[in-house]
Amino acid sequence: MLTLRNVNSYYGRSQALHDLSMDAPDGQIVAILGRNGVGKTTLLRTIMGLTDRSEGQIDLGGQDIGVMPTFARARAGIAYVPQGRMIIPDFTIRDNILMGGFAAGGVRRIPEIVPELFPYLMDNLDRPGGVLSGGQQQQLAVARALACKPRILLMDEPTEGIQPNIVQQIEDSIIRLNKELGLTILLVEQNVDFAKRAAASFAMVEHGTVVASGAIDTLTDDLVSRHMAI
Ligand SMILES: Nc1ncnc2c1ncn2[C@@H]1O[C@H](COP(=O)(O)OP(=O)(O)OP(=O)(O)O)[C@@H](O)[C@H]1O
Ligand SMILES: [Mg+2]
Repeated sequence: MLTLRNVNSYYGRSQALHDLSMDAPDGQIVAILGRNGVGKTTLLRTIMGLTDRSEGQIDLGGQDIGVMPTFARARAGIAYVPQGRMIIPDFTIRDNILMGGFAAGGVRRIPEIVPELFPYLMDNLDRPGGVLSGGQQQQLAVARALACKPRILLMDEPTEGIQPNIVQQIEDSIIRLNKELGLTILLVEQNVDFAKRAAASFAMVEHGTVVASGAIDTLTDDLVSRHMAI
């Protein structure tokens, strides 16, 4: 279980998370929902230790990870698939994937599930990451995260700006990673239909805090229109 209690987080002197509490039970997909700019990315960055400063408790299976440097959080089993993917275009697809293993200090091997989930990547390991389409780069960012051998994946809008024909493949791979590998996934998602299909629970974020949460079947249209409609 990943538990956040009364978490504040800061960029310089500006506070982006306010007294945020939430839980991610083992083996569940938790959808992180909310409008633009409410702090969803900051929430994932805070769990990873990538904001300037944070306060409060971040606990993973009884371990207080909130006090650890980012590399130690990666080694504790948390991997991050950032918004915008952030692959290295000049590195080969192979090296982009293996960087994940490097981050976690573990074995530098391509994870077994990658050929099954993303055969195109496996067939093009020696080509530079930059030749891939946006959707393929998203797959690469997921493969890189898997190379950390994580228990928990933090995924930030994995289908944002991706051509429709590959969105389905990415959605399917997220569901498979949860079902087949038992990965806990924090999924920041604007597509409520996909969130409802994939997630067991949700956390609605507004003004840097969780304003509603619970089992996904308690995510009503009213909550969505109140906290997500523009
Ligand atoms: N590097 C940064 N430095 C200073 N302020 C930042 C930084 N990144 C984000 N912020 C601020 O923190 C707040 C939350 O931003 P964040 O990116 O977490 O929102 P978000 O919910 O992920 O938005 P989006 O849906 O657009 O991705 C915003 O007010 C934003 O301006
Ligand atoms: Mg964001």
